Order: sequence, then structure tokens, then C-alpha cells
Amino acid sequence: MLRSVLIVAAEAVPFIKTGGLGDVAGSLPKELKKQGTDARIVLPKYHDIPKYWQEKMTFLGHITVPLGWRRQYCGLFMLEEAQITYYFLDNEYYFKRRGIYGFGDDAERFAFFCRAVLEVLPKLSFKPDILHCHDWHTGVVPVLLKAHYQQQPEYEHLKTVLTIHNICYQGVFEKNLLADLLDLDKTQYLDHPDLNFYGNTNFLKAGIAFADLLTTVSPSYLEEIVTGRGGLALGELLSSRRQELHGIVNGIDYEMYNPATDKAIDVQYTTQSPEHKITNKRNLQQKLGLIVDSDIPLIGMVSRLVGEKGFELVAAGIERLLGLGVELVILGTGEERYENFFRSTADHYPKQLSANIYFDNVLAHQIYAASDIYLMPSLNEPCGLSQLIALRYGTIPIVRETGGLKDTITPYNEYTGEGNGLSFTSYTSEAMLKAINQALSLRRERTVWLEMVESAMETDNSWGRSANQYLKVYDRLL
Ligand code: GLC
Repeated sequence: MLRSVLIVAAEAVPFIKTGGLGDVAGSLPKELKKQGTDARIVLPKYHDIPKYWQEKMTFLGHITVPLGWRRQYCGLFMLEEAQITYYFLDNEYYFKRRGIYGFGDDAERFAFFCRAVLEVLPKLSFKPDILHCHDWHTGVVPVLLKAHYQQQPEYEHLKTVLTIHNICYQGVFEKNLLADLLDLDKTQYLDHPDLNFYGNTNFLKAGIAFADLLTTVSPSYLEEIVTGRGGLALGELLSSRRQELHGIVNGIDYEMYNPATDKAIDVQYTTQSPEHKITNKRNLQQKLGLIVDSDIPLIGMVSRLVGEKGFELVAAGIERLLGLGVELVILGTGEERYENFFRSTADHYPKQLSANIYFDNVLAHQIYAASDIYLMPSLNEPCGLSQLIALRYGTIPIVRETGGLKDTITPYNEYTGEGNGLSFTSYTSEAMLKAINQALSLRRERTVWLEMVESAMETDNSWGRSANQYLKVYDRLL
């Protein structure tokens, strides 16, 4: 079946990314395309998109977007890269700033983006059947479509899918502001129980209530969010739409993350040449000022330094962790308390702890390739991509059993010898340290460890299967 899908998202690689959403929105269309779908993406044209890409964009024209009593300019740009068409919506008042989220007028900025996406559709040489929205930033697209557009012939056939990447980010704003911005009829929409959120308006809730189908990024996370606690006040609504909600685990870009061809790492390797992984490790130890010794277990973490990712367990257990005789490399930025904590602890243990409080894509690849163990003790993890990248590089993940971590990591089973990682359940430093200790003793049994590394590298987390599941979701609507 020929399907055409427009992915609507606030970020996508290679243009702009703050987290996993950007990776997924950027790599999903490539695989959809491979599987015979005309998949394109529309994004805001942020000032922070590198010049390199901005210069490749073609200006197609402009439209005027109604936003309450305002009429806002919206420029339309297009870019084709690796056979995918990307559209960018331009308005300097909203998007010419440093950074992409976290402004006082985010409600207005993303209301504008959602409205502009719908307004611009008739101007595209492309007629999507499905708008596939991602996260709260695009959550009001389904409501706006029903309220203002669906009656018109160009929009009649359009269906919407909303993917929830993380229920913790909902986009909650003052109700009256949105009534004005979105021109929504108060009685029909804003006071509708599905839109009303304790007197506020919730972008994500709006999308959950009005999208034709819903997905989230793993089956276990789906089970978590349909409950009261895991759903953070949206559980009831989600559970009422249980039949229309699907859990699809993300894939990763197997070209971008490939130890056999990766130019960011010093020595490329495959399952046939595990000794090359050790060369990468020694090089990284040297580069970061750690003790250079391939016998010392090297643990890597590449992550936003936020509570949700389990950094409190690492911080509380840091002395005991380093007491195990391991080296720990951290890369990422985030909450100040963690940035400061790891910086100052690294000053005390410069030969054992390397805290890199910034982001550097090359170093990220080197950490994935060089580490023996990848630590991911998340409190919540809707899907998680880092553990999948670690597997690809033969770095054994130690994860807390939550959400997608539970669905993608099979803990080592000493009786059958199966498994591609280790896991723990209780959210405590003790449970985490116990799993690390278990990994260290397995690592001393050389052949067992090498088998685990091999099975990690052979786990298939490419986009093929996941994209195919999205196609099945789309097909339910066509
Ligand atoms: C969010 C989630 C993460 C998921 C990513 C992509 O960042 O926190 O678990 O992998 O979205 O879906």
C-alpha cells in the first residue's frame, strides 16, 4: 500500500536535538521510506540549526497563520538530504533564539507551530494521509485539525497518530491563553474534560484525547503509563484509550552507530576482532587521564545529568563504586547539583573518575566503543537508546528494570548462558552496586564475558522491525 506520512516534531537529527526524541524523529522516516512509504518531516526553523544546513534550504514561499487575534508570518523552507524531504517553518519572532525550549512563551511558540503545520499543508506538493505527531509540542495538532480544518475537502481524509516519548513532559499552560491562541470554542473544546487539566490546558492531554491512534516507545512503558501513578494524572485517559494505544520499541540508526565503520573511534571492530575494542579502551583511558590498563573495568555513562536517569544512585554510591576498583567515565550536562558533584568528585579521584560536563558527539562514540560496561540506572525510561547503542558496540549494559530497559535487555542467565546485559529492580544504590559486582565477577570469567559481548553485538535493534510496526499502526487508519 502506498502511504504518505508527515512526521511533525520539535526536533530531529541531524538538524537539532536535545534528546532521544530527536534521534527517533530523525531516523524513523529513513526506514519508513525504505519500506515503501513517502515519509517526510516538518520542523520549526530554529536559529540553532547549524549554518551548514540552513544554507542548503530552499525558500518555497510564505503563508499567514491565524493565532487568536494575531496573523503571523510563516516562511516555508525545504531541504532534501539522503532522499528524505524536510520542511522547516520559519518565524523569527518565535524561533530566532538561542535554545529551543524553556521560554516563557513556549505555549504560543508551539501553538503557532501546530497551527502553521496545518495551514501549510495545501501548499506542499505532497498530500499526506497521516500526520504523525511526537510529544507535547505537537499535541494540539489533532484538536486543531478537528476544530478548524477537517470540514474542508483537502483535510477530510487526514488521520493523526501521536507518539508519547516521555509522559513527564506534558506542556501545561494557562487555559485562557490557549482559548485565545487556538481559537477553540470554550464549551466544545476547552471545557471538554479531556482538555481541561485542573483549570489549565495540557498539550499532551489534548493530543491523547484527540489523536486517532496513540503509540508510546515500549510495551512496558505503556503498561506503566496507563496506571494512575505512572501516567502522572493522564493514566485514566490513557487507559480509556487502551485499545488505540500501541507500545513500539525504538530502533537506532545502524549506520550512524556501527563499530565496524565508525570514524569517530580509533580502531573499528566487529565480533571477529574484540581485541580492537581493547585498543579503543586504552586510548580513551589515556585521553581522559585515567590509569591505562586494559584489566581495569571501564564503566561508561552518556546521558543528560538529570534525576530521572538515576544519577542519585550513582552519586550516593560513588565511593563504594570506585572502591570496586573500576574506572567511570561520564559525559553530559544537566542539573547543576549533579554537574558540580561529579566535577568535584573527579577532582578527588582524577585517575578513576572522568567527568566531562559538556556534550561531544565524538567522545560519546568513543565511550560507547571503549567501555566494558554501560551503566543506566534510570528511575523511569520510556525506551532508552543508549543501552541499544551500547549493545551495538559490545558494551554490556547494566540497567534498572523499568520501561524500555526491561524490554530490550535480557539479564544474563547463568544456567542457560543467555543474556545481553545485567539488571536490577529496586531503585537503590545497593541494588545497583550488587549488579555491578555481578558484572565484574562475570568479566573475570573470560569466555562467559566474551560470549555476552558477542550476543550483545548480535542483538538486532535496527529500525527495520520498529518501522514495520509503525506501518501496521498507520494501516489501521487507512
Ligand atoms: C525520551 C525518553 C527515552 C526515549 C526517547 C525516544 O527521551 O526519555 O526513554 O528513548 O524519548 O523515544
